[in-house]
Amino acid sequence: MNRKYQEIIDKMKLEEKCAMLSGETAFETREFKRYKIPAMLLSDGPHGLRKQAEGANHLGIGGSVPATCFPTAQAVANSWNKALGEQVGRALGEEALAQEIGVILGPGLNIKRSHTCGRNFEYFSEDPYLAGKMAAAYVKGIQSKGVSACPKHFAVNSQELKRMASDSIVDERTMRELYLTGFEIAVKDSKPGTVMSAYNLINGVYANESEQLLKDILRNGWGFEGMVVTDWGGSNDHALGVKAGSTLEMPAPGLQSVRELIKAVNDGKISESDVDDRLDELLRVVFSTRESIDKSERSFDEKAHHELARKIAGECAVLMKNDGNILPLKAGTRVALIGDFAETPRYQGAGSSLVNATELDSALSLIKETNLEMTGFAKGFNRNGAGSESLSKEALELANSSDVVLFYMGLDEMKESEGLDRTDMKVNADQLELLRKIKESGVKVVAVLHGGSPVEMQWSDDCDAIVYAALTGQGGAAAILDVISGKVNPSGKLSETWPVSYADSPVYGRYPAKGRNALYIEGLYVGYRYYNTAKINVKYPFGYGLSYTGFEYKDIRVSNEGVSFKLSNIGEVDGSEVSQLYVGFKDRDRADINTYRPENELKGFEKTFLRAGETKEVFIPFDEYTFRRFDVKKNKFVVDGGNWIIGIAANSRDIRLSAEYEISGEKIELDGTAEKAKPYIEADIRGIKEDNFRALLGRDIPEDRVKIDRSITLGELGHGRAPIGWLIAAVLSRLLKSSEKKGSPDLNLLFQYNMPLRALAKMTEGAVSMGMVDALVMEFKGFWFIGIIRLIFEAVKNVVLNASLKSKLSD
Ligand code: BGC
Repeated sequence: MNRKYQEIIDKMKLEEKCAMLSGETAFETREFKRYKIPAMLLSDGPHGLRKQAEGANHLGIGGSVPATCFPTAQAVANSWNKALGEQVGRALGEEALAQEIGVILGPGLNIKRSHTCGRNFEYFSEDPYLAGKMAAAYVKGIQSKGVSACPKHFAVNSQELKRMASDSIVDERTMRELYLTGFEIAVKDSKPGTVMSAYNLINGVYANESEQLLKDILRNGWGFEGMVVTDWGGSNDHALGVKAGSTLEMPAPGLQSVRELIKAVNDGKISESDVDDRLDELLRVVFSTRESIDKSERSFDEKAHHELARKIAGECAVLMKNDGNILPLKAGTRVALIGDFAETPRYQGAGSSLVNATELDSALSLIKETNLEMTGFAKGFNRNGAGSESLSKEALELANSSDVVLFYMGLDEMKESEGLDRTDMKVNADQLELLRKIKESGVKVVAVLHGGSPVEMQWSDDCDAIVYAALTGQGGAAAILDVISGKVNPSGKLSETWPVSYADSPVYGRYPAKGRNALYIEGLYVGYRYYNTAKINVKYPFGYGLSYTGFEYKDIRVSNEGVSFKLSNIGEVDGSEVSQLYVGFKDRDRADINTYRPENELKGFEKTFLRAGETKEVFIPFDEYTFRRFDVKKNKFVVDGGNWIIGIAANSRDIRLSAEYEISGEKIELDGTAEKAKPYIEADIRGIKEDNFRALLGRDIPEDRVKIDRSITLGELGHGRAPIGWLIAAVLSRLLKSSEKKGSPDLNLLFQYNMPLRALAKMTEGAVSMGMVDALVMEFKGFWFIGIIRLIFEAVKNVVLNASLKSKLSD
């Protein structure tokens, strides 16, 4: 590797070099004035910045500096508009420059394995192609301003429960085709300066310590030249991380972590040249982002960014239902505004992505600016589900004196947060009860649905129209009124399948994994790949969304470069259509465990704006991802010869044009595992037994048990043999329950509950060493006396060694 900053590296002492590879504070790298190395600020997040106020800890989210809150990634993915993603990125980049932030910790692009992951609102899709392309757009936008983006969390990180200790047991092909492809697209298309490694293990190895993941795949395979930063507290053994290709350990593990790194070099566990390589990667980001910050203004146009947030939110809205074309509402329609969310919008999710918005619109405050006539507002229900007869009564009376009810409903704050997964897909019952009563009273209902992930919608018959607003960001209320009044013709399409019932989900009953091992037995059958192949009826398919106009598809032509077709707007208003390219292997029934495939997979998309009556020729190119399959035996991607069905679709279940396309090349040779592959070929999820999964994995399924070791989580301490551990676990669960009752998630608590003991040594700025953690492990194993003695010894040792290293660093 050719090191750009070799000259500086040559001058630095080993202690200094090792010290540079971990954070100085929760969000800052170390500064070395004598080498003119400035500190660099990293900051969340994916849809708006969360620069922490002075002294705040990593999840102390209250005190962040005001910033524009854009729609969350899930919402922007519903726009299927790469240019829009780039616009969000550019705005984030500008705000980062103004706040002197070098690295923006996002976008997040983990695959939505379950509809119920608490962080799904922060992620783009259940599909890696869509996720990868949208993520690449964000990165391009952010980096066009000279700061670095940081796609996260790399990789196979799809549940919040035990997020720092969970081991994703996944077969190689599923990992490559589903969980890594999005990152591959983002890295190859947009060259992010930084990537964040995930908390979890993958097949027994921490993502942050996996040479396969960080070296073989990310760096050597995809040509990534930037730095890898650990998730906050996600480093287990920094020396192993550095060796595997992980650069910067965050947040501020303190000097004990630096000592470990120095020792690893001195003991020959890692080489000094590994440290130098990592340091060079870090310095390149530090210096280049500093240069951009120095050249820029310390302010951004808040008003313009608010307007942009509004415009983007309008393009993310998905029109789910529009019976009798009730929408857009005619000028002068007498509308009642009903629902808690009309007054207090739910526009973002909880966790490290929480933004302190510069301003916030609500439907109630803006309705007077529309051409609709408001008859009144009624809260109708409490968002947390605490039923109220009087609220409901008041709302019904108001409804009866109006032509149309705009019913603002959705998931409340407790449902979607970093650190927790939903246990069901329901909207609180009292909202639905009121909706039913309003419908029964005969008035027309337009529902505006808020939330960053799908819900069960048995109640949809109670609405004449449904606008899915998602988590809109700060300009959302205005944007949704624009849709309702027809200023904006909706063009969003769902970036995730909405099943009829949670019980239909391929991971239902198995998600989130309660133990250490999360078994990805469903293989490639995530989202529409499953529902479409197994022919399960869904509420709204992946890629679905209506418009105020209609589109016609004609004249498909397939060449070796891609597919072209004619698209016409056959309605009366201008509008945009998202056309989707799906491919499927025609002979998919003849397969074995390594070659089974879903019925169809998304391989391209294009959003086209058409004036009323206009026709355009649309072209969707093939690329390196279109026909490939990861061949486990050859350890590389291959393209199988045979016939493919090419579909151009309005959604994954509405293929408007199709054609066959033959790829000459090697025919698949079956390897005798066809019988074991049967449930995979048939997408018979419930029929997949251990034996089938073992065949897919190509090895035994690892045993799952909680070990009392550095990785035991605080919530698991009840499994230990020390009364103090039982007490800690019991107190944490009790506190969690009472925070649930309060209706808003307590992030720090959730973090602590899921935090392994080892993270104590990574998140206490050096106050706790790994030696002290080992002493605690002895304690929890029941050796309380030796444990205490060792704890005292290690604590004293830590103080002495920290002091001595500190003086060396300041020499
Ligand atoms: C989250 C990351 C976030 C980091 C810093 C972690 O807990 O998983 O997504 O960037 O904190 O706030």
